[in-house]
Order: sequence, then structure tokens, then C-alpha cells
Amino acid sequence: QEKPKVLIIIFGATGDLAKRKLYPSIYRLVRNETISQDFAVVGLARRNWSDDVYRQNVMESVEQAFGDCEELESFASHFHYQSFDVTDEGNYLQVKELVEKLESEYDTNGNRLFYLAMAPEFFGSIANNLKEYGLKETAGWTRLIIEKPFGHDLKTAKELNSQIREAFDEEQIYRIDHYLGKQMVQNIEVIRFANGIFEHLWNNRFISNIQITSSETLGVEDRSRYYDDSGAIRDMVQNHMLQMVALLAMEPPIKLTTDEIRSEKIKVLRALRQLEPDHVHEHFVRGQYGSGVVNDEEVIGYRKESEDLVFSNTETFVAGKILIDNYRWAGVPFYIRTGKRMSEKRTKIVIEFKDIPMNLYFKSDREHHPNLLVINIQPDEGIALYLNAKKAGAEALAEPIELSYKQGAMPAINTPEAYEKLLYDSMIGDATNFTHWDEVALSWKYIDPILQVWQNEQPNFPNYESGSMGPKKSDKLLGQDGFHWWEV
Ligand code: BG6
Repeated sequence: QEKPKVLIIIFGATGDLAKRKLYPSIYRLVRNETISQDFAVVGLARRNWSDDVYRQNVMESVEQAFGDCEELESFASHFHYQSFDVTDEGNYLQVKELVEKLESEYDTNGNRLFYLAMAPEFFGSIANNLKEYGLKETAGWTRLIIEKPFGHDLKTAKELNSQIREAFDEEQIYRIDHYLGKQMVQNIEVIRFANGIFEHLWNNRFISNIQITSSETLGVEDRSRYYDDSGAIRDMVQNHMLQMVALLAMEPPIKLTTDEIRSEKIKVLRALRQLEPDHVHEHFVRGQYGSGVVNDEEVIGYRKESEDLVFSNTETFVAGKILIDNYRWAGVPFYIRTGKRMSEKRTKIVIEFKDIPMNLYFKSDREHHPNLLVINIQPDEGIALYLNAKKAGAEALAEPIELSYKQGAMPAINTPEAYEKLLYDSMIGDATNFTHWDEVALSWKYIDPILQVWQNEQPNFPNYESGSMGPKKSDKLLGQDGFHWWEV
């Protein structure tokens, strides 16, 4: 494959995402010569920066991510800044001029990657203005990367989508879900479809339930404006958690192409059992953190984090029981849970296999050690399989043992690797690990009824201590089915 040549135009160039994720990722792509050295970046944001100030910021963000770096200055010299007000349409012509000028300096084949890393209320108008002001007219390809949130519910997501689709075709739109860029999330497919011992058992005859946990230790930080309006269900469940459910539940695709994989995932999302308002409480639990101790540090509750949050009813934790009404999964609950200020930063998937009918090797009938397959997404990356084997000694007793494999994992949390991979994919035109509109729409369709019930009820918050694994009700959710969360 030829190294992609590209001009990247970033809307929101002074923002957090650009600094923490995009610049370090671009640096690695260039340094590792994954993309052509003939690249350029146009940074757009409201601030009145010069190229020099911008480049300084780019260099700092790369250093923050990786420490001392080689050839940083020459890397940063490819970055160009223009102050930009999204609401001022005259600005688009200036961007066009700058882009055309850079295209005469750098050999980027006219390929343009527009990256929207800013407030979502402008996504629609930016997309349309790019078309209107001729920024899509080029000899190369044009693609649009959109960060979440993609809408606030199904209705607003549809509105946003139809706005964007006026200017860009579905094939040109790359909706980011950074979980899909994670090594171990991509590994779900391989573990499933490249191993007979798993795939043959991967159904309701042999699996009793699946548990997906994505816990964080951080609180809301300085994102309360966005987060309070969103909450954990929009922030994590509508996208990352449901994407993992889809990958765990989908049928084997006939080929490893974008369309085939997406179409299998879409089928899963279509089979999610929609919740009637009366059933929402049986299936979903929400929580908000109070004060507590996380990583040996005392922390304050959500409502104390900022003045605006004093009366907030936003959930910072969600646990849910998802059912998939299809032939493979009927009767198997997929439990998900995610939240802020929990006891550890970790994402893992536990597949609990059905136990054998009786086990002669345990002292009491009450002892159950079903086989578990654990897929560790982060920070450790790897898999572990829990089996039972004979305890050393004369008695015929069994004990659980663990077979495990750890990938040479990067310790960093929220590493730029996911972004690096996704940026590259977008440059080579591989949309497999981006979400298709149908996936976005179906996910909202599933979430909407839950939001509606919650909206109309006053929760009793805070209801979990910082540093815990969430409210008691989250344990009951599994308890009522005879299961419990595996803390393995
Ligand atoms: C983002 C959410 O999508 O994912 C954040 O907006 C969350 O609130 C983050 O912290 C978690 O990502 P990761 O990669 O650290 O698990």
C-alpha cells in the first residue's frame, strides 16, 4: 500500500482533543513513516494565534505525550494556523485560499481530510459550508471525520445526519468511536472467529451471560458543560458499550470488508430488545457519585464539582441488562456497566460459560466456578481463561486456575494509539472501524426510551461512593438473574 498523502484540516485546533490525541497521533504516523512525509495540517480555531504559536503548541502536546522527541521542529513546520469563526462565512474563502496555497507547496495529491474536533452544534453548518465554498472541489479525495456526540437522541441525530448528508456522501463520512481503534476491541473478532474452541461455544447453548465493564477513576474534570448535558448513557453506552456488544454478538462476516462487517453489526443492533417504559427499571440502573476515596485520595461528589452541578440529576454511572432477540442469543443477558469515579480504570469483557450440571470436585454444592473467558481491553491488554484443575494433594478436589496472555501493553490511559490507527484508516479509506449511520441510529433508538423514563423521574442521587463499583442496585441487576459481576 502506498503511503497516504494528505492535507488535514482540523476544526478546533486549540482544543483538548487536538492537543491530547491528534497531534501526538500525527507525529507518530509521520515519524514511523506510515504516511507520506509530504503532509500538511491546517489548524482552525477562534483564537488569534500565529503559525509560530500554533507550532509551539503542537510541539508541546507531542512532548507531553512522548517526552523528548526527535525532529520535532521540522515536524511542526508542516502545521499552519488560521483564526476562524465558524459563524463567519467569509472565513471559509480564506481557508480555501490557504488550502490551495499549501497544495501547491506540498505534494498531497489534493487529498483533504476535514476533522471536526469541536462543539457538535456546528457540525452541520461546517459540512455545508465546506461544500458551498468549494472546499470539496479538488482532484483528490475529501473525507470528513466527526467526533461524538453524534446527536443528543434519535431525533437530533437524524437532523444532524441529514444536514451532513447534504454535503457529504455516507462513504465520505467517518464517525469516530475511539473504542473501535483499540487493539483489544479489534481483537474481539479475531479471538472469536479464529478459534474453534470459542466460536463453536459462542451461543446461548453454552454461554450463560456476558459482562462488559468500563470503569473510570476520573470524575467529570473540567468537562461539566458537556458531560452534565450528556451523562454516562450518552457519553459511553450509546456508542462504546453498544459497539462492543455488537462485536461480541455479531455473526461471522462472509468477508473482512467494511460493508460485510458493518452489516453484521447492524443486524445485532436491530435485534436489541427495545425496552417498554415499564421495563426500564428492571433493565437499567443509573447512579451518580458522592464523595469518597479513589486511588488513596479523597474526592468530592459530582454535585460539588462545580456550581452548576449542585442540583444535577445527571448520571455518572449506568448498568444495564441488554437482550438480543435472535437465534444465537435468545435468553443470554449482556450486562454492561460504566461509570466515573469507580475503584479502577479498566475495561474488560467477561464471558461466563454455562456450568456443568454437577461438579463432584468441590466440597459444597454451593461452590460454582464456571469457566470464564476474560478479554482485557485496557489498561492491560490480553485474554485470560479460567478453568478448573486438580488441587495439589491427596483429595480429589478442584480449584480454578487461570491461563493468561498479556499483550505488550502500553500503560498509558486513553493512549493515542487508537486515534493513530483510526486516522490512518481514514486516510486509506478504510471505514470498518468507524460507525455507519445505521449503527448510530439504531443505538439511539435503543437508548431513547431509557432516557425518556429517566427524564421524568427524580433520582435519589448521589447513590454511590467514589471509589466503589457503583450503586447496590447494579449488583441486584445480576442478582435477580442468579449471577454476579465477576471482579476478575
Ligand atoms: C470518551 C468519553 O468517549 O471516552 C469520556 O467522552 C471517557 O468521558 C472516555 O472518559 C473513556 O475513554 P478511554 O479510552 O479512556 O476508556
